[in-house]
Amino acid sequence: MFKAAVLTVSDRSFRGERPDAGGPLVVEILKNAGYAVAETAIVPDEQGRIEAALRQWCDREEPVDLIVTTGGTGFAPRDVTPEATIAVCDRLTPGIPEAMRYASMQVTNRAMLSRAQAGIRKGTLIVNLPGSPKAARENLEAVLPALAHGLEMLSGRPADCANLAD
Ligand code: MTE
Repeated sequence: MFKAAVLTVSDRSFRGERPDAGGPLVVEILKNAGYAVAETAIVPDEQGRIEAALRQWCDREEPVDLIVTTGGTGFAPRDVTPEATIAVCDRLTPGIPEAMRYASMQVTNRAMLSRAQAGIRKGTLIVNLPGSPKAARENLEAVLPALAHGLEMLSGRPADCANLAD
C-alpha cells in the first residue's frame, strides 16, 4: 500500500476563515483508491512554507510515496504552489499535468488557467491540483489510475510496462 500526504495551500483556510473542503476530499479519493494517507497539513500561499512542508514529507526517514497539493495553481499574485514544487523537485513529470489539463479541458476551458506541476523529489512524487473541490476531484481522477504504476517504478519495484491492465 502506498503512503500519501495531502497539503492544502490556502491563506484563508490557514487563517481559519474558510473551512478546508479540498484537502479532505482529496484524502477521501486517495483512501478509496487504496492509499494510506499518512499526513495532512494546511499552509498559507507562501513559497517557503509550501517548500518546507514538501521537503519534510520527502526527506524524512520514512518518506511518503505521493504528495498531493490542492490550491495555489492559478494566476493570483499569491498563487505560488507550482514554483514551490519546481524548486523542490529533482525531476519534473510533465505528462501528469498535461493529462490533467487535457481531461479538464473537456469540462471547462478554464482548465488552461491551472499552472499545476508534478515532479519527483528523491523517492516521492508530488502532484499539484487546483483548489476548488470540483476542480481537485476532476484533475485527480484524470490521473489517479496511472499513478500507481509510476510509483512502482519510482520505488524500484519490478513494474511491467507491457501489462496494460490499467
Ligand atoms: N480544472 C477542472 N477540471 N475543473 C475546474 O473547474 N477550474 C480552473 C482550473 N482548473 C477548473 C480546473 C480554474 S477557474 C482555475 S483559476 C485554475 O484551475 C487554478 O485554480 P487554483 O487557483 O484554485 O489552484
